[in-house]
Amino acid sequence: MSQSPPTELVERYRTRAPRYTSYPTAPQFAPLGDGVVEAALSRVSGPVSLYVHVPFCKHLCLYCGCHVEIRETRSVGTAYVDGLLAELDLQLKHVPPTSLDQLALGGGTPTFLLPADMERLVRGVTARLPRRPGADFSIEIDPRTVDAAYLHTLVDLGFNRYSFGVQDFDPEVLAQVARPQSYEQVRDAVDTLRSRGDFNLNLDLMYGLPGQNPEQFARTLAQLVSLRPTRVALFHYAHVPWLKPAQKVLEKKGLPDSVLKAQLFGMADAALGAAGYRIIGMDHYALPGDELLSAAESGTLLRNFMGYTTRAGLDQLGVGVSAIASFAGIYAQDLKSRAEWAARIDAGLLPVERGWVLSEEDVRRRSIIMELFCNFSADIPADMVVERNRLRPLEDDALVTWSGQRLAVTPLGRHFVRNVCAVFDSYLEDPGNRRYSMTA
Ligand SMILES: C[S@@+](CC[C@H](N)C(=O)[O-])C[C@H]1O[C@@H](n2cnc3c(N)ncnc32)[C@H](O)[C@@H]1O
Ligand code: SF4
Repeated sequence: MSQSPPTELVERYRTRAPRYTSYPTAPQFAPLGDGVVEAALSRVSGPVSLYVHVPFCKHLCLYCGCHVEIRETRSVGTAYVDGLLAELDLQLKHVPPTSLDQLALGGGTPTFLLPADMERLVRGVTARLPRRPGADFSIEIDPRTVDAAYLHTLVDLGFNRYSFGVQDFDPEVLAQVARPQSYEQVRDAVDTLRSRGDFNLNLDLMYGLPGQNPEQFARTLAQLVSLRPTRVALFHYAHVPWLKPAQKVLEKKGLPDSVLKAQLFGMADAALGAAGYRIIGMDHYALPGDELLSAAESGTLLRNFMGYTTRAGLDQLGVGVSAIASFAGIYAQDLKSRAEWAARIDAGLLPVERGWVLSEEDVRRRSIIMELFCNFSADIPADMVVERNRLRPLEDDALVTWSGQRLAVTPLGRHFVRNVCAVFDSYLEDPGNRRYSMTA
């Protein structure tokens, strides 16, 4: 992407828009009819991807936009794992025999689970869905929750992609967001994993937090690069206090404005570029050799709820509170309340709250949006006249160009890819649609 875009453009295109990990996006989801999920499950084909949501965290980080439940004791996870496996059984009753090509544990904090519960979960999943050779097993880790023994357990369970929440290394920035965590904690965890051999390491970084400025961010970037992760996710802090009231406190602490955020992004982009990383999609970076990078370079990168992936063609099942699954032409999201979710499972019912059955038009728009978001170009059908007209100002600002039917997002336009994709979103203007975070 390189360099910060001009301030004037940042201000002019600053708007609310989705990050398009699905289309239609989750606020559009509605209750599904009786039997819809079961019928779609019976149409699942080929190996699957499974997302497992573990909502628990010990403390709330003030910026957090994830679906979390703050709990003191880790033993709460024991019954939860029972529920996850029971939910998987309820789903697999309908699914033709299949195998597992991708397992992703996200949260919350999966490593909040006691090691014995983690082991029971992973062994329980692979007993029901045999692991395929070359399968991708990933887990999100809060470095503060794992000791060396826990990390060894994860390696023994076959995880091969580890993602650590870093956000920033500056103790003062971390204090502002109530996430006390040291550089050494992250480094030691990474060293422990490295002692066990090869694996993919992702570090999550965020920009847009209170207290961030070019001076401290330069130090954070140098520390990040010194750990040599294979991938970096550089998240723009999504401020959505109407959904996450704890974020409101951060306004009083002073959030960076869009100009400073663009500067921080530009610094990260330059530092990662100088260290040999290449940008993937909107906000990911990877070292050469990473499969995501090859996918980005060959134009086959895909996007789903797990972010950017090379395996989004798989039907994606999901278990756990709030988990969103995407398979056989539907999206299905689980209940968010753990009590309601558990009660449904106990009653032998799928704990799905809402979702979406994609129409042909949804599928057509989804493929354009995802292609733009991932590969920065897409063929636009001639009948999309309204959309073509809406793109004129973006063309005038050199954010997009046309070559026949093919729309391309320029390097400058990549900063505004959410704006470009929003043009193709039929539901954005729907009354009652929830508000999204700002694009800049
Ligand atoms: C589930 S957490 C990662 C695992 C673990 N809970 C942790 O914090 O280390 C997923 C990631 O989402 C990102 N994130 C959380 N809230 C966000 C927000 N409001 N805006 C942008 N990114 C956010 C953070 O970078 C975080 O590491
Ligand atoms: S950022 Fe991670 S550890 Fe912090 S509250 Fe959110 S999910 Fe939990």
